[in-house]
Order: sequence, then C-alpha cells, then structure tokens
Amino acid sequence: MSESDNQASSVLLPSSSVAVFSTDQKTLEAARAVEGDWRFARVDLQVEEGDVFTAIESFKASGSPDLIIIQTEKIDDELPGQLEQLADHCDEGTGAIVIGPDNDVALYRQLIDMGVSDYLVKPVETNFLADVIAKTLIEKVGVTGSRLIAFVGAKGGVGASALAQAVAWGVSDSLGQKTMFVDMAGGWSTTAVGMGFEPSASLAEAVKAAEEDNEDNLKRMLHQASDRLSVLATGGEVMLEQTVAADQIEALIDMLMVKYPVVVVDLSHGAADLERAVIARANHIIVVTTPSLPALRLTRSLVQEIKDLRGGEAENVDLIVNMVGMAAGNEVSKKDIEEAMNLKVSASIPFAAKAFMGSESASKKLSDDKDGAGIVSDMLLPLMRKILVLGKDDGAAAKADAGAGLLGGLISKLKK
Ligand SMILES: Nc1ncnc2c1ncn2[C@@H]1O[C@H](COP(=O)(O)OP(=O)(O)OP(=O)(O)O)[C@@H](O)[C@H]1O
Ligand SMILES: [Mg+2]
Repeated sequence: MSESDNQASSVLLPSSSVAVFSTDQKTLEAARAVEGDWRFARVDLQVEEGDVFTAIESFKASGSPDLIIIQTEKIDDELPGQLEQLADHCDEGTGAIVIGPDNDVALYRQLIDMGVSDYLVKPVETNFLADVIAKTLIEKVGVTGSRLIAFVGAKGGVGASALAQAVAWGVSDSLGQKTMFVDMAGGWSTTAVGMGFEPSASLAEAVKAAEEDNEDNLKRMLHQASDRLSVLATGGEVMLEQTVAADQIEALIDMLMVKYPVVVVDLSHGAADLERAVIARANHIIVVTTPSLPALRLTRSLVQEIKDLRGGEAENVDLIVNMVGMAAGNEVSKKDIEEAMNLKVSASIPFAAKAFMGSESASKKLSDDKDGAGIVSDMLLPLMRKILVLGKDDGAAAKADAGAGLLGGLISKLKK
C-alpha cells in the first residue's frame, strides 16, 4: 500500500458490514481479531466457518453486507461460476475479496477483471487483513485521498480558529486544493467575522440537510470564500443551547468528505462530544497551544485523550505552539515542551498582534499582511504539504472522486 493509502485508512471506518467465510482456522482467527482494531469500532464484522455456498445461504436469510471476503482452498474452472451464483444473492455495490491458496498472477488478473477488489494469498495476518479491509471500505464510500484535518485548542483563546482559517486559505489558494471549512462552535463561532460573511445557517440545519441527503439545501448554506474555498456559513444558532448530537455530525462530515478533498474543521469552543466524534474520525489532528504552563498542562491531557481515542497512537497528531514571545520570560522552551509531551513541535508561531488581530478585524486573510504571509508560507504550509502528501504525490487529494466506482464491479460485471 502507498503512503497515501496508509494515511487514508488511519481513520475510524464508516458504519458498514463485512462478512468473512472461510474453512481455514487461521484465517477465521485472524478475521475475528480484526474486531480489536480501533478503526473497526463501527464495522459490523461477521466471521463464519464456511464457503461460497454458506455465504449464499446466509445472504438469502439476511441480505448481503458491504464487503464479502471468501476463502477458497481450490482454484479451478468452477470458481467463476460459484462467484456468479454468489453475485446473484448480493446487492448491487457489494464488494468482494478472495483469499486463495497460491500466488497466481493469471488468476489474480482474472478475478480483478471480474470485479473482485483484491486477491490475497493465505496465510493472512490480522494486521494485513485489517489494512486491506479498511482500504477497501474507504474506497467504497468514496473518501480515498480526502483529508479531514481537525484543529483543536488545548485551552480557550490559543488561536485555534485563527490558524485553522489561515490554513484553509493557504491550502486552497497556494496548494490549489478544493477545500471546505467547518466551524463546530455553533453560536460561539467567530468564523463569520474572520471570513467576512453573515451566518445564514446553523449546524443543526446543515446536519439535517446531510441526513436527508439534500445537497441543494446544503449548498445554500455555503459561503463561497473563493473558487476553491467553501465555508459552511453556520453560527446563526443561539449560544446557550447545544442543538446537534455527535452521531449526527458524522452524516455531515461523510457528505462533505465525498465532495471536498480537504475538509478543515475548527473544533475550538465546540461541544466536547462533537470534538470527540470529529477527532475519532479525522485523518489529522492539529493541537494548538501556547508556551504557557496552564495551556501546556491541558495539552498533555488532551494529547493523551486523543491517543486513547485513536488506539494509543499519536502519529497523525501535530502540535502547534502559538503566540511564542508574547510573555517571553514566562514561556516554556520548545525543547522542554517536546520532552514533556513526548511529541515533536510541528510549528512555532510568533506572537504577531498586528498580523493576526489586524487581519481579523478587517475580515482579511492572514496572508494579506506581510508578516502574516511569512507565517503562512514558512510555517503553516510546509506542515500542510506534509499532511496532504503533496509534492511527492500531488494527485492524492484529487483521487477523492475516482475511488467511488471501484467496487460494485463484481456484481455488475458478473451480471453482464
Ligand atoms: N500568533 C498570534 N499572535 C497574535 N494574536 C494571535 C495569534 N494567534 C491568534 N491570535 C489572536 O488571538 C485571538 C484568539 O484567537 P482565536 O479566536 O483563533 O482562538 P481560539 O483558540 O479559536 O479561541 P476559542 O477557544 O474561543 O475558540 C484572536 O483575536 C486572534 O486573532
Ligand atoms: Mg475558536
């Protein structure tokens, strides 16, 4: 798998169903162990001892899953016919992976031509199987290559929103990516001021449009900041009420991820359960802090909670230390921060009142200010290039739409 594939599958997978049929005890064990992988929390995994015919019986009774994995011990002329029978009992769009006994390039090609997503050779290890399933499911829902980048402030007022907005502008303007900006702060959102628009919607309305799959309604809630930058123009709600539940936000994110290769979410001042849901789902999390002790203390706890939520890993978590130099004598050094957090500092942003507050009060981009432009190009964009795997693999984000039709092949092609 390429680097971008690996990054793309390091997310909590969408709600989906996977069924594994095999008579090989090792495969059955490996498949059952996949359930322990943190990414699979919402994947309904059915592992059964059996073959193609067991699968058919099972689907007759309860319908087909999103992805079927079938192991066959024998490769012969009967296999295509058996797969065809299986296809007859599957819904359009069902994906299939075949596990077989030997490494046979001709067979691999034949199966791929038939629409099978992948052919694996036994024995299959749990980690490998988990990665293949994750990649296949992500391709199936069409989000391959799309990146969800979440900004979260370790403490209030550390500049998470200012940096998230500057990044959204930079990624769309300078890196040329079609980008969506979403603010989770509800009535507390300051995005409208920073980006210069009137809030025309609430998060609750946006979520409702997504749940109803109503793209036209959602479109009406967008502020088109530039050709490539769209902003969900929320902030019209009341401040002292939470109107959206965590599971609802998922529908909105799913819808946006299919359309926009880069989705930047500002979680600062959002409700804790919304933050949690987006952090679990994000490809990358940017934790913003200042070099002050209170902020760093919260940063340490927050990073630990993020790790716990994401299977103990912090590989896709970047730490930005903001407002460096604001209180020079009372700041913790970068070296000490890195040691205490056991995490590298990805960027240190100087305190620059004129650049930040000046551009904010004029509803301008940070990069319209001379010092602000330097901060964006020298400190924020290098990090974004790394996160978006740009430069090395410029097309990564553009693959978003291409993945959608990959599966579904088995059924439609076999039926032809
Ligand atoms: N590096 C900086 N130098 C000077 N001012 C900054 C810097 N970064 C952000 N600011 C300013 O600090 C203020 C707070 O920033 P911002 O609203 O982005 O913080 P936040 O973390 O999103 O806060 P909240 O917790 O309320 O969501 C804003 O006025 C912003 O322009
Ligand atoms: Mg904010």
